[in-house]
Amino acid sequence: MVGHRPIADRTWRIRIESPRMAAAATPGQFAMLRLPGRTDPLLARPLAVYDVFPGSDGRLRYVDFVYAVHGRFTTALEGLPAGERLIVWGPLGNGFAPPAVDHLVLVAGGIGQTALLALARERSGLARYGDPARRPPRAGRITFCWGARTAGLFGDVDDFRQAGCDVHLATLDGSLGTRGTVVDLLDAQLAAGRLGPSDRMQVATCGPEAMMAAVARWTAERSIACDVSLETPMACGIGICFTCVAPIRGADGGWDYRRTCVEGPVFDAASVVW
Ligand SMILES: Cc1cc2nc3c(=O)[nH]c(=O)nc-3n(C[C@H](O)[C@H](O)[C@H](O)COP(=O)(O)OP(=O)(O)OC[C@H]3O[C@@H](n4cnc5c(N)ncnc54)[C@H](O)[C@@H]3O)c2cc1C
Ligand code: FES
Repeated sequence: MVGHRPIADRTWRIRIESPRMAAAATPGQFAMLRLPGRTDPLLARPLAVYDVFPGSDGRLRYVDFVYAVHGRFTTALEGLPAGERLIVWGPLGNGFAPPAVDHLVLVAGGIGQTALLALARERSGLARYGDPARRPPRAGRITFCWGARTAGLFGDVDDFRQAGCDVHLATLDGSLGTRGTVVDLLDAQLAAGRLGPSDRMQVATCGPEAMMAAVARWTAERSIACDVSLETPMACGIGICFTCVAPIRGADGGWDYRRTCVEGPVFDAASVVW
């Protein structure tokens, strides 16, 4: 870990040095992280790849993650200075597919913004991801709607502005932006004519499950395509343990449990049985 700094209330950003992961990662992928020499917690935890950065030679070298202090792993990580070693494996999972869209709307709840920054940077044409580098069509415009409990939980919002997003915030306590949930914010954007019905629009969302279910309903009611990045608890991250399963509908209308670590974490919102 070569960098570790607070960016919001109980929210930290770490940078690890991993040229292989930095070169390979695509938006929406994640890595599993573990603290070496500790048995508590025994299992690794998944964190979304926030962004990747080059070293002084111009080649991709660093990977950033952003985490909220939540339970045993993140509490232990919070106390570690830069320079400490971490065990990290990734990039893992299937990230966001790059369909052509006129208007990409990113919707985050809580710490869910971490899965969305690289997508914004890729679709605005500011960055390329993957090896070989993907060349998805640029989105005509990108809106970022982020909801949190209170203003102090927003960290590095400027990353999204610099990624070319039109940024809108909502807080449950009304301390910043629209008072209410991120779905209230979507309603407000729609009423203000900022989410035009004639747009070829796509939503990508990440956050607490109840919030993503509400966004999935909101988009389904308006026939808007929506991808969700599920945050199911995971143990191995590579398809072995089945701790991460979620009920996903198949083409025949039935559903089955799918491992979100290898078949997700990104799914079509309409396929998820909420
Ligand atoms: C693909 C993916 C990407 C993720 N990216 C990020 C990220 O970028 N930043 C970030 O801060 N977090 C992220 N998470 C969530 C993070 O992995 C969990 O919150 C993790 O449990 C934190 O570990 P902990 O030991 O601190 O908390 P734990 O001790 O594991 O958890 C404490 C409590 O929360 C419950 N819990 C654990 N995981 C979840 C969950 N996903 N949803 C609801 N309840 C849960 C546990 O049952 C327990 O009761 C991601 C999860 C997934 C699957
Ligand atoms: S986390 Fe082990 S199978 Fe998905």
